[in-house]
Amino acid sequence: MLFLPFTLVFSSWYILVEAGSQSKGQNCTAGDNRLQIGTYQFYSDCDTQTYCSGAGICELKGCRKDQYPFGYASNATLPDKCPSGQFCPDEGDACQALLAVGSPCQLNRDDQCQPPPNYQELADTSYYGRNVNGSVCLNNVCMWANVTAGNACTVENTAYIAYAGSNEFIDVVSRGNCVVGLYCDSQQLVCMQSRAIGESCDADKQCQTFNCQNNGVCGESADSPNHFGIWLYVVVGIGIFGGMFATLITLFILHRRQRDVEREKRLQYWREQNAFRQNIMQMRETARASILSLPGQGNSNRSTMYSRANSEESAAPILQHSVNKASGLRQHFSDEGSLYDEGIVMQGTRG
Ligand SMILES: *[C@@H]1O[C@H](CO)[C@@H](O)[C@H](O)[C@H]1NC(C)=O
Ligand SMILES: *[C@@H]1O[C@H](CO)[C@@H](O)[C@H](O)[C@H]1NC(C)=O
Ligand SMILES: *[C@@H]1O[C@H](CO)[C@@H](O)[C@H](O)[C@H]1NC(C)=O
Ligand SMILES: *[C@@H]1O[C@H](CO)[C@@H](O)[C@H](O)[C@H]1NC(C)=O
Repeated sequence: MLFLPFTLVFSSWYILVEAGSQSKGQNCTAGDNRLQIGTYQFYSDCDTQTYCSGAGICELKGCRKDQYPFGYASNATLPDKCPSGQFCPDEGDACQALLAVGSPCQLNRDDQCQPPPNYQELADTSYYGRNVNGSVCLNNVCMWANVTAGNACTVENTAYIAYAGSNEFIDVVSRGNCVVGLYCDSQQLVCMQSRAIGESCDADKQCQTFNCQNNGVCGESADSPNHFGIWLYVVVGIGIFGGMFATLITLFILHRRQRDVEREKRLQYWREQNAFRQNIMQMRETARASILSLPGQGNSNRSTMYSRANSEESAAPILQHSVNKASGLRQHFSDEGSLYDEGIVMQGTRG
């Protein structure tokens, strides 16, 4: 059962390669019509859009059984599907009336058979569709799926060639005419109760879920969705939010450390500047004191010295000298050429 998708994929691919090549109006041999070995796909000499008429000529198909038939362009005009009470045979030549119980039908074409009067209670409406409106086509004979537990039933085993990767294996599909909830045992040929999940089995049909696992126990239905425990959502949620917060906290710590370093640099720079200023003031005081202490000096000389000490020419060399062996920040300001800009220095100290 688990390999059914592969079977479908590969059988579609197979038709693509193996479909007949004769197109409309070309000759064909109706005797070549057959089901392909392994896939049981209908084959005729004619291509996918035509069928082989009784006159041995390929004619456009008169009906289709699939909603989306294979071998047509997406903008092509498709032949009609058959109305209720009729079916389209594998050949696709024309719609036919449903066949009575006991009539010959085509493989797996339960829909070709007339439904029983109580079709509503016999119909298998599940995903597996083990009958169509209570009818089954077994061994090419129309029957009703109406046999109850312990009564004799008919079984049809079909061996498909299935593919899983490069491996080829046989997938036996076993069908019977038991009512829904029972299966037709291949040895005793009587209807038996289907088994629940966890019970032992040796064929898919024995399980209510139609999935007999490799360990011989009925498992979950192959189409049942995966469910994850609450803990998984919790772990994933913690992972996501934990990761986010860890990143934020790490960045915060790194930035704080960097800010502290920068602040320390600025503080150091401010201290140095302050020290320079004290030095200059001290120098000025010393100079004034020495000038004043000189005998016979007037006011005019004093004012000249005062203004010179205040000017850039005298202050710059002293600063320049000390700059070369101090904080990294000063080097930065030096590069910018604004080392002596009091405004920027003061701004830096405050920020
Ligand atoms: C079509 O006709 C030709 C000539 O009569 C014959 O050789 C060929 O086998 C026919 N093809 C089919 C698919 O019947
Ligand atoms: C469908 O489309 C193809 C090109 O995509 C075009 O050549 C062709 O004539 C179209 N057929 C019809 C029936 O519109
Ligand atoms: C089952 O029977 C109903 C009523 O006759 C019909 O409408 C419906 O198409 C049938 N289902 C199938 C799959 O043939
Ligand atoms: C069960 O179906 C068969 C055809 O498969 C039919 O002949 C028989 O009468 C049905 N039995 C009941 C009880 O409906």
